[in-house]
Order: sequence, then C-alpha cells, then structure tokens
Amino acid sequence: MNASAKELAALLPPGFTLGVATSAFQIEGALDEDGRGPSGWDVFAAKPGAIVEDQSPAVSCDHYHRMPEDVALMKDLGIDSYRFSLSWPRIQPGGSGPVNPAGLGFYDRLIDLLLENGISPMATVYHWDTPLPLEEAGGWMNRDTAYRLGEFAAIAAAAFGDRVDRWVTVNEPATVTTNGYALGMHAPGEALMLKALPSVHHQLLGHGLALQALRAANVRGEIGMTNVYSPMVPASANPLDKLSAGLMDVAQNRLYADPVLLGKYPDIIRAATFFSSSFSPSSEDMDLISQPLDFYGLNYYMPTRVASGPGEGAVPPGMAEAMGDDLSGTPGAPFHIASFPDTEHTAYGWPVKPDYMAVALAEMAERYPDLPPVYITEGGASFEDVVVRDAAADRRIIPDERRLRYLADHIGTALEATRPGGAAESVDLRGYYVWSLMDNFEWSAGYKQPFGLVHVDFDTQVRTPKASYYWLQEVIAARRAAS
Ligand code: NOJ
Repeated sequence: MNASAKELAALLPPGFTLGVATSAFQIEGALDEDGRGPSGWDVFAAKPGAIVEDQSPAVSCDHYHRMPEDVALMKDLGIDSYRFSLSWPRIQPGGSGPVNPAGLGFYDRLIDLLLENGISPMATVYHWDTPLPLEEAGGWMNRDTAYRLGEFAAIAAAAFGDRVDRWVTVNEPATVTTNGYALGMHAPGEALMLKALPSVHHQLLGHGLALQALRAANVRGEIGMTNVYSPMVPASANPLDKLSAGLMDVAQNRLYADPVLLGKYPDIIRAATFFSSSFSPSSEDMDLISQPLDFYGLNYYMPTRVASGPGEGAVPPGMAEAMGDDLSGTPGAPFHIASFPDTEHTAYGWPVKPDYMAVALAEMAERYPDLPPVYITEGGASFEDVVVRDAAADRRIIPDERRLRYLADHIGTALEATRPGGAAESVDLRGYYVWSLMDNFEWSAGYKQPFGLVHVDFDTQVRTPKASYYWLQEVIAARRAAS
C-alpha cells in the first residue's frame, strides 16, 4: 500500500465525494451521428490554425460509442461520482425547438448505467458547446441565448431530473468570455476585448434561468454553478504590481463570482458600461443570477503571478488553456503574467502550487460570507506521459508520478485547509473531482495536453490506466477498509 494513499484516505471526512470529470465535446466524438447538430466549436475547430496541428475533435475518445467501457473504468476506480456534460447540440440540435430523442437516449443510458454501478451522476448543463444556430445569432453576446439555455435546462430537467444527484448550470463562464469572445482563442473566435462584457452577463443570466428551470421542475438533485478561481499574486510589493493583480482578480474571479454570491458586479465593472451600451444589468437580472445555490463549484488549477507593464507572458489564466505553452508577451500590455520562480510547471506551463489551493478556499470564505457548500468540480494537471512496456507482466505502464503528486498534494491541502483550525475552516468542502477521467480534446491545445487518469491512444482507442489511476483506486480502497 502506497503510504500517501493511506494518509490521504485518513484525511477524508465521512461522506466526502471523490469523483472524476469530463465534458461532452471533449470526449464524445460522433459529431455527425444520430441527429446531433453542429456547435460553434465544430466550426471553430475546423478553421486552419485554430487548434494545435489542426487536430480534429471529430472522434476524440469516441466515448459516444465506448461509454459502457468508460463507465466500467470508473467502476473499477471506485469513485463516488462522475461529472459529465449534456451536449446541447446533441439533445436540441437547433438550440431551440425540437428535441432529438436519440440525444436524450444516450444520456438516459449513461445515467442508468452510472446508477447501476453505484456512481452518482453530476450533470453540467452548459460546457461550451453552443448549438451553431445560436452562435450564428451572436452566441453569448446575444441575450436570447440565456433564455434558450433556460429552455434547454427545462428539457434536461424533465428527462433526467428524477436521476441526477447534482446539477451544474454553467461551467467556467470566465474562460468562455476571455478566450472565446475577448481574445478569439476559443469558439467563436471573437476578439472583442472589453466589448465582450455582455457575454459575461448573458452567461450569468443563462445560469440564473437554468437554475430557475431546474427548480421549477422540482429536480431531486442539488443545483450549483462552476467558476474557475485563480488567486492573483502581485509579483512584488510595488503598488503597480498590486494594482495589476487587483485588476486581474476582478476580470477573472470577481466578475463571475460576485454577481452569483453577492448579487452585484464589482464596482469597477459598473464603470465599464462606458464601453458597451448593451451592458446594463437590471435588478430582475441580478435577482435571477443570485438565487440561492445548493452548492458552489470551484475549479482550481493554479495561482497567477501578475506584474505591471508588458512582459514575458501576457497570458491571463484560462487564456493559457488556449495558447498551450506559447507564453509570448504582448507589446504595450498594461500588465502581464510573470512566472513563479523555482516552481515546477505542467506541460501547459501552469505553475504547480498546492498551497494556493488553500489560499483559493480561504479567499472564497473571506469574500463570500454566505458561501454554500463547495465542491471542487475540477482540478488536475497535464504532463507528457510515457508508455512503458512491462514485458514480464505483459502490460503497459504509465508512471505519471507528477500528476499523482499534483492530485495528492491538492486534495490533501484542500482537506487540511477546511478542517477545524485550517486556513479555510469555514468552507464546507464536500468533494473533489479530478479533471479528467481520461486524456481528451483539450480545446485549442487538441490532444497535446493530457490530463487523464487513463491514457487514451487516439489511433487505436485503447485505454490504459496510469499510475495516478491506481493511486486514486488505492485511496478509495483504503477509505473503505478504514470505515
Ligand atoms: C477547465 C474546463 O472546464 C475544461 O473543459 C478544461 O479541459 C480544463 N479546464 C483543463 O484546461
């Protein structure tokens, strides 16, 4: 028994959820099958240069055809819960109007199989795959998309509300706005910079309308939403560095969390109405956006070190997802991302800083006194993997020690921080979902940033559990043995 697996198991409070996460567009493939309609991502990914090496999401992990095999991998792993997303263009190809029964059927089978195997389903309603007709009508720049999401949530609630244990309305609106509408590195490829602000409000309104629809349908599961959170660390005590970090904090964290948890946008954002006349949130909108949640989903990957002036890496968090490891600077930028000295980095170039997992939770507790119970809905690391052939045992081994260490350190830190006396003791932490079950289509980085506990050979579709998978399996087995 790996000692650290046993130690971690001992830290797990009773009822703590250990899970894995994926999203539909990143794993399913089968983009043209059984009545699925195209999404904005289908079109964006087909543009030359949009995805690393022009890689295609058309097949990806082929999960649409291999779903039972993937559920069996989860069952063997022993996890409590699986977070997946419902493909909007598969279920409602036009983004409004008729429902595709074959699309509903796929998730029906998935959810039933999960339940049969004792795995609790967590469904994300919106994980970035906007149906193309809606994207063509302006996507999240168009307020109508929020109402369409509310309608889609009602469809999902009617179909799955009796079986889904936890719902996430919207995933990481910050990444959609920053990468998709402000910088043009994700679908739909718009580079509107500050004029992208309405896409923030409309996604948050979409969250509010989806939440309202799920509540109206009386779904039996808990309902929450997911934001990414990156603590902003000034590169020095220089007031300009501090100011820059504060601005980044507003732009990437508070802009999305304050409206949901405090019912208002940060003060500085109100001044931004200057940039966009269509950004004028009404109190009705704010009431929808700030309806009480059953839980808050937090995605934590890394902190961000911010320095004033143009520099070596003008890349906001999330935007780094789109750029892979190309951290080239932007001439004339008012501030930039600086690297942390003496720090391990993932294949993406993201700093590995487990201590900031605790900082993220502590900052959330301090900022949001009424913070509901929290699930860390994503955490994980991309590292280049090496497949080793163990001839004696006739099997393939993937010794991903760095990913294993990343997960052990981050889960351990989150548990320590939320115990009595910990830095974030007031946070009611309910679970941690590893991103991801298996290597998959990492948006603009294609298949070049593997986050999986399970390795996928994209030529043969052979799945091979990595050392990190076996480690998590041991943690879960040790917890069971101790109870
Ligand atoms: C957050 C996103 O929700 C997910 O789709 C993405 O793959 C991971 N971060 C890793 O970048």
